[in-house]
This record gives sequence, structure tokens and C-alpha cells, in this order.
Amino acid sequence: MTLLELYKKSAGELSFGSCGDFEAKVIFEDILKIRTKPYDYSSVAATDDQVSLMNEIIDRRKNGEPLQYIVGKWDFYGFTFDVGEGVLIPRPETENLVEYVLDELKDVKNPIVFDLCSGSGCIGLTIAKLRPDSKVYLFEKEDRAFYYLNKNLSNFGLKNTRAVKCDIFDFDLSELHFADVIVSNPPYIKSDEIPLLQTEVQKEPVSALDGGKDGLDFYRCIASRWLDKVKKGGLIALECGDVQSNEILPLFSDKVAEKNVIFDFNDIDRIVAFRI
Ligand SMILES: C[S@@+](CC[C@H](N)C(=O)[O-])C[C@H]1O[C@@H](n2cnc3c(N)ncnc32)[C@H](O)[C@@H]1O
Repeated sequence: MTLLELYKKSAGELSFGSCGDFEAKVIFEDILKIRTKPYDYSSVAATDDQVSLMNEIIDRRKNGEPLQYIVGKWDFYGFTFDVGEGVLIPRPETENLVEYVLDELKDVKNPIVFDLCSGSGCIGLTIAKLRPDSKVYLFEKEDRAFYYLNKNLSNFGLKNTRAVKCDIFDFDLSELHFADVIVSNPPYIKSDEIPLLQTEVQKEPVSALDGGKDGLDFYRCIASRWLDKVKKGGLIALECGDVQSNEILPLFSDKVAEKNVIFDFNDIDRIVAFRI
């Protein structure tokens, strides 16, 4: 079998996913370390190792393992994050949240940022990287997620970040500075909807998804515990699920000066934001 034949066969077998060609290309380039362009592989034979590794990966994919966990890394906002079992895979929609916060921070010097429920660190580390004058604290509870957070922190080699292993529901906030921004993509799926999620999403940690009975536990916690740690005029920007903004806004209403909902290109509410 030539490499080209292996590529085409793999793309075909992986086409149950979103895009077989894309997945085959990622696996060829990132795991088999074969550049898929610009070479012509129609006359190069695939080795036995390459064929068996590819077959093993296709089996794992058919078993629902996310491509990102197999590759072990994923891109977010132009940066690469290590990921694997136990940490949420950074989503493209979360890039909107980062972009929003960076924009809101453009006139704030030396901002202090809290990234709650930071997972891989994709939000907080991206902000810290692009705003070297900031100080970013990243709060994460789960062991595996905290492992990836620290790995990414060390890969980024930043001096302006601090990872804090804690439960945001009972962490003692008294020693913390006041923040210019609290940003978070918290778990927000209703508990009884978790079993209905697609197989691949169910391979991600439940602790990263489950927002409690009505999906709003973490928003309540932020409104009741963390809001007081934001400076006057500061910002809280939170990712939310489809149509959740109507329920989240009232949780903050009597404590904030301004509230805002940001919709994505598909007119889905993605971010709720508050000025204190
Ligand atoms: C939806 S994920 C978001 C991860 C990352 N910020 C992102 O956008 O990809 C939520 C994260 O919250 C963490 N988490 C769950 N419960 C927590 C708690 N009580 N305190 C702190 N972090 C928690 C999970 O482990 C998970 O990493």
C-alpha cells in the first residue's frame, strides 16, 4: 500500500466524524509525522508500522475517543495547548470570549485577571500571553485538568500567571487582590442532559460539563461569591450555553451597573458580561 492509498483509505474510514480528510491530514502530520503537502506520495510505500498505527488510531476514533486527545494537543487563538483525557478540549466558540475580554481590556493598564474553571488554561494563558502587563490567576479544581494547566503554563513560559488548585465554591477569597476582570467558561450543561451528549463529548470529564440541575450552579457561585472581588468599573465575562442568558442575567442584575449579552454569527447567545 502506498502512503497515498493509506491516506485515502484512512480519510474514508474516518468520514463518520466531521471530516475524514481533515482528520487523516491531522493524524498524518501530527502523529505519523508525514507532511501531506506538497509531496506526491503515490509511489512511496507505507511501512507496516505506519499502517498499524493508523489502524489503531482509526479504531480509537471509532470508539469515540476525540481526535484532540489522540493527537495530544489542540490550537486555540493561534496557540497550541496540550490536552488529553481529563481536560476539556478548547472550543473555537471560547475564542470569542477571549477576543471580547482583550478588547474590553485595551485601555486598562496592568490588569488583574481571574480565569475561573480554567481547565487547559486556554483562556487565561492566551490573555496573559497577549497582555504581558497583566497578572492572570487561573483557578481549577480537578487533578487531571490542573496537570494540563501546569503543563501549558510551563510550555508558555510566562511569568505573569499563577495557577491555583481550588474549588471555586469554597475557596477562601480574603487573601486575593481585587480583579479588573473575572472571565470564565464554567460547566453549564444541565445534569440530566449529560447522557444525551454525543459520544465524543461524553469522553470529556463530566466535571467540566455538569452545571447542576438547571446548568446554572457556577453562575450563581460567581454572582454570590466572586463578584465582590471585582474592582468598581471592572468586568465579569462568562461563556454561556444556548438560550441561557435569559436565566443568567437576573442572577447578577441587582449587583451590577451594566449587563450585556453577546451573540455569535449564528445568533446564539455565547457570552454574558457585566460591569460592576
Ligand atoms: C467548561 S470547562 C472550561 C475549561 C477551559 N476554561 C476552557 O474554556 O476550555 C470547566 C472547568 O471547570 C473545572 N471545574 C469544575 N468544577 C470546579 C470547581 N468547583 N472549582 C474550580 N474548577 C472547577 C473543570 O475541571 C473544568 O476544567
